[in-house]
Amino acid sequence: MRPTISVTLKTLLITVGLSLAGLSLAAEPAKGTAKAAPDAAKGEALYSNGDPKRGIVACIGCHGSNGNSGAAAYPKLSGQHASYTVKQLKDYKAGKDRPNAIMGAFSALLTDEDMANVGLYLEKQTPSLGTAKNKATIELGQKIYRGGIAGKSVAACAGCHSPNGVGIPAQYPRISGQWAEYTEAQLIAYRSGERKNSVQMSAIASKMSDVEIKAVADYIAGLR
Ligand code: HEC
Ligand code: HEC
Repeated sequence: MRPTISVTLKTLLITVGLSLAGLSLAAEPAKGTAKAAPDAAKGEALYSNGDPKRGIVACIGCHGSNGNSGAAAYPKLSGQHASYTVKQLKDYKAGKDRPNAIMGAFSALLTDEDMANVGLYLEKQTPSLGTAKNKATIELGQKIYRGGIAGKSVAACAGCHSPNGVGIPAQYPRISGQWAEYTEAQLIAYRSGERKNSVQMSAIASKMSDVEIKAVADYIAGLR
């Protein structure tokens, strides 16, 4: 009798062992679907060198060292909240709500992981300060920024983007220190409907005149 029992036990143990192995395999995430945490070092490498094998141009060529672009034609990206940067790259890639020939082409080559990595890298950089250039409109710019536009129901920019323009992570982007030319162009794009990736900003910009847009954009450049 004894050997029979032991054989049965062995079979049982092997069966249990096999099904346990099966369980632990099933619990492991399938290869390729596991989401890695964003990696700032990978983001920096992509930002500074691009990825020639995949045809990705270095971002640094236009957006400058650490995201502090030295030319008004290119927005500063430094210190921006990662979630905002990722959203913009996805919107450019989708090509619908923020169509742009240059960034549409570049973002098309980026994976979600690239976007998260570069977003985290940029969030960790220290933004360079800017300056307001037009003395004559500073007061109007500040009034709009801090108090909105009475009579047009334009809300104060400070209410969302915060008094010093650093925004609120995951909700409102940093806008202070940005090139006035870029800010002006974005407000005009929201107003015309060319950029339509924010219902809130479309509503606000649609009520602003050219003079008001220019004044607040210049004020924001010097905000800190
Ligand atoms: C050839 C120049 C050029 C290169 C290279 C370039 N960009 Fe841009 N980028 C621009 C321009 C111009 C804009 C403004 C487009 C617009 O008006 O929407 C922009 C806008 C952006 C914005 C939106 C900023 C905001 O405040 O909403 C992000 C984010 C961005 N670029 C990230 C990148 C990343 C990441 C790379 C590298 C993979 C890159 N860019 C490479 C020219 C460039
Ligand atoms: C109700 C909240 C709210 C108010 C008030 C507001 N904004 Fe915004 N703003 C946003 C949000 C949200 C975004 C980001 C949209 C997105 O995710 O694409 C944004 C984006 C922007 C951008 C684009 C930034 C970039 O890097 O491209 C600019 C410029 C801007 N706002 C300027 C202003 C100005 C100027 C005012 C005041 C006249 C203002 N905002 C008031 C919520 C607000």
